[in-house]
Amino acid sequence: MPTQFSLQEYDTAAAYIRARISQPPSVGLILGSGLSPLAEAIEQAVRIPYADIPLFPLSTVEGHAGQLVIGQLAGAQVCAMQGRFHLYEGYTPQQITFPVRVMRRLGAQKLVVTNAAGGLNPAFRSGDLMLIEDHLNFVGMAGNHPLYGPNVAEFGLRFPSMTRAYSPRLRALLLETAAELGIPVQQGVYAMIAGPSFETPAEVRYLRSTGADAVGMSTAPEVTVAHHAGMEVLGISSITNEAVDALDSVADTSHAEVLKTGAEIVPRLTRLLMGVLGKL
Ligand code: HPA
Repeated sequence: MPTQFSLQEYDTAAAYIRARISQPPSVGLILGSGLSPLAEAIEQAVRIPYADIPLFPLSTVEGHAGQLVIGQLAGAQVCAMQGRFHLYEGYTPQQITFPVRVMRRLGAQKLVVTNAAGGLNPAFRSGDLMLIEDHLNFVGMAGNHPLYGPNVAEFGLRFPSMTRAYSPRLRALLLETAAELGIPVQQGVYAMIAGPSFETPAEVRYLRSTGADAVGMSTAPEVTVAHHAGMEVLGISSITNEAVDALDSVADTSHAEVLKTGAEIVPRLTRLLMGVLGKL
């Protein structure tokens, strides 16, 4: 597997997909752990297994189906990733973000990213939704950055600004929609760690001190690449568990809990996202 891709390679994958769909997507949608059922709401869906798409990585983690679902959701033409790629699976940040650039080449101008995350903010409860205002890309800051390597100028600048990576317009739209639907939404900063281990209690206390409200193992690379390519980004975390911050805590974090709470949040998240998509 190459660790960096040329424009031609993104276009090879995009051409394969384009030949199988009738309308290009305007919105990319990434579904996180336990959130795959959301793709079932997509109508007139064309499903393309990742394994069939040239150069596409394969999803290896339980709870991630591994296919693109392209069709209509609340009147928007979407390309959903049912299952995403993570650094802890052994992929490079360039592989993780490959599908985002392919969606961009297909014509998507917006990216909606969901994930499962642990709550760091003491006010957050398991089952909450958090609108992502900003992120801390610890993995990228430490050198595992998806824009490493030659800049592909067709996508964007060598040194992209990240000041408004999470679109202020889409954030306002989400809050407005949530209020109309009576769905409570928290807001905060998402911290990305590499995983696959969950945090130690000391790491949880450290992350809290950095200003993070939620922690997870994804999202920052995809958002960075989407923003670099001029896409409007909306990010939502499902708070699937409360991060454990003390050695003597009786609580513990597990993937089973993440999937279970994620599944419980799906109906609410689906209503919220469909409400937002209907306004795009
Ligand atoms: N930590 C990191 N990633 C996660 C968590 C967590 O507590 N919950 C879901 N994804």
